Amino acid sequence: MRVEHADDTSHQQEMKATFATELGMPMFNNEPVAIILFNMITKFCNGSASHFPVKKVLLLLWKTILVSMGSLKELHQTKNEMRRAAGLPEWPEDNVEVCRNIRASTPPAAGMEFMDGRRSRQARQDAFDPFSDADEEEEVANSEDQSPGTPRPGSPVAEPVETPVIKVNKALPWRSKVREKDLEQFLAQTRQKFVGLKVHNDLNSLAGLPNPIHEGVKVLKEHIYVSLSEVQIKQEEEVTKNPLSQSDIAETAAEALYRSMLPNLPQYMISLLKLLLAAAPACKPKTDSINILADVLPEEMPTTVLDSMKLAIDVNRHKEIIVKAISGLFLLLLKWFKLNHIYQFEFMSQHLVFANCIPLVIKFFNQTILAYVQTKNSISVLDFPECVLSEEEELSAETLETGDSQTCCWRNMFSCINLLRILNKLTKWKHSRTMMLIIFKSAPILKRALKVKHAMMQVYVLKLIKLQTKYLGRQWRKSNMKTMSAIYCKVRHRLTDDWAFGNDMDARPWDFQAEEYALRSCVDRFNNRRYVNDGYDPDFKPVDNNLQSILGEEVQLTMEFKMNYEKWLEREVHGTQIDWDLLLRH
Ligand SMILES: *[C@@H]1O[C@H](CO)[C@@H](O)[C@H](O)[C@H]1NC(C)=O
Repeated sequence: MRVEHADDTSHQQEMKATFATELGMPMFNNEPVAIILFNMITKFCNGSASHFPVKKVLLLLWKTILVSMGSLKELHQTKNEMRRAAGLPEWPEDNVEVCRNIRASTPPAAGMEFMDGRRSRQARQDAFDPFSDADEEEEVANSEDQSPGTPRPGSPVAEPVETPVIKVNKALPWRSKVREKDLEQFLAQTRQKFVGLKVHNDLNSLAGLPNPIHEGVKVLKEHIYVSLSEVQIKQEEEVTKNPLSQSDIAETAAEALYRSMLPNLPQYMISLLKLLLAAAPACKPKTDSINILADVLPEEMPTTVLDSMKLAIDVNRHKEIIVKAISGLFLLLLKWFKLNHIYQFEFMSQHLVFANCIPLVIKFFNQTILAYVQTKNSISVLDFPECVLSEEEELSAETLETGDSQTCCWRNMFSCINLLRILNKLTKWKHSRTMMLIIFKSAPILKRALKVKHAMMQVYVLKLIKLQTKYLGRQWRKSNMKTMSAIYCKVRHRLTDDWAFGNDMDARPWDFQAEEYALRSCVDRFNNRRYVNDGYDPDFKPVDNNLQSILGEEVQLTMEFKMNYEKWLEREVHGTQIDWDLLLRH
């Protein structure tokens, strides 16, 4: 379904598109397949249906959404179409493509990082080994040099190749960005400093500012990036000011899914996080936690060594697949909702944060992550299609044990990258959530994750470290120069961001609630306006004059009424003649 074939006829293409559309449409009980599956997961987690094969339900849910909404590649195309429609220039950069051209760096030393140019031959060779654990080796500003041996997705372990001459000035991989807000702030500061004036809503006037500032403004303007989210937030503000103006809502697959998920979205998030926790490798099984192994464990425990080994592998594989499906699902939903409407994304994010997603992911990475991406929990002779195509091979405890320690478990690598991207999505531009990264001491945990020599994974780890550098203090930065330089080389630059030098000691975790409440009220207004009142202001809703429904309505009585109800009863009921026959005839 999801792979385009060059020889697909137009009829086949049409059939595929129709299938994808139908998959997102209401079916039984007026619910689309995804909602049926979400509800199965909630039931499984609250114990009312513990016999459901939860791994399969999760996989099916993820794939259903992948087919009906599209993959991240299609999302990138849709994003550019939407940008064009909103009058914004297209954004050609595709994260996966950019990461392909970034070279993974050698892991920083465990303790202090030094910047001497020593590079042994061994170190150069290790540089091409994604799992090199050499703590001593060095990396100067060459982390960007590319060579034919650059590990790429699909070929984790490239042949060791002699590195050519180290190139220092390689172009940065990402285009720099500036928000309009940043330019505004920059102009406000410089105007205050040089002219002593405030000028509102003017990003052009440079009167009285010295030449270097003109240059600076020119550079900033060249890198301005207006996101769709900013446009959507502005539109929301407009609609709030003029409640009668309704903006058109495009009926996309994401819109339909969000609308049907909305009533139970918090429960879905909680259930999925519970399952993620139960499947995390570092998690110790608690007596009250959900049992995710019901559909792997046989009725009778194995008696032979071979069978025990097979079962152990199967249990681990089962958990890995659950993590993969949940992390893939979260990322896919976050990204599609973000594109469709920023407040749909914020609603889902907030529920993930409230359900402790941030510490959970940090905890997930608080394991030997290098070992996790190298596990080999599969039995190749039992894998499809090998098990049907190849000669039957004798399985023995010995053949199970011999595994190549240099192979990569792409399943787990994929999960790790997804979880890092989710964490990035939740914390970006959110001060209070960035503070959570610090409170839960994520920096050393993330630094350890850099040992996995995979460019894309490192980029997302470095982004998370970059967010925090301001708060970690000068001493931390001085002793982590290699990490700092890796951030400089690999993470997008925001031109006015002083992440490397700024000292924000004013880390205010107690602002957490204020920030989340402000966001919450925007999200609630958005949801109420679009989904709760069918898009109408409650004042304009038709009056309910159905006797049955009025009598069934629960009315909250005020304290004042309760204290004076006898007077009211006297005056309005006992003191008046009511012609019941007349009333009932109406
Ligand atoms: C990480 O693991 C170590 C040792 O297992 C433990 O002491 C520490 O509290 C953990 N940190 C987090 C954030 O879970």
